Amino acid sequence: MLLLNGPNLGRLGVREPDVYGALSYADLVEAGARWGSELGLEVEVRQTDDETELVHWLHEAVDTRTDVVLNPAAFTHYSYALRDAAAQVTKGGLRLVEVHISNPYAREEFRHLSVVGPVATGTVAGFGFDSYRLALIALAG
Ligand code: DQA
Repeated sequence: MLLLNGPNLGRLGVREPDVYGALSYADLVEAGARWGSELGLEVEVRQTDDETELVHWLHEAVDTRTDVVLNPAAFTHYSYALRDAAAQVTKGGLRLVEVHISNPYAREEFRHLSVVGPVATGTVAGFGFDSYRLALIALAG
């Protein structure tokens, strides 16, 4: 499956460690592969700051019949293009789990809205890097 990450998540470890923790994006790539092998899943971790690229990766998931773990980062809150691409995944019979490292509902008000959540299979938020692991467990089950 694809474990996709949106803007600024390549800066994990450097970016606001009080919010997102001390682990880096490289640590996430390594953890994704490890959790995947523990769960018997092939997990490919990607990150982009580019909305177009992220939309195209969701099209790829539809075309290759691949489930998705998606941390849309700030696109969560306003990208209708990403929402429409995510809807193609779930309406195509695939599963897409929206993931957040932090708990957006416990933060600034603009983070309380997810435009992706209503078209996701489910959402995991607030458990640090474990949010990704919990999403993979859900998809493996
Ligand atoms: C985030 C939460 C978003 O509000 C924020 O814009 C991010 C990261 C998270 O993983 O907690 O970039 O998606």
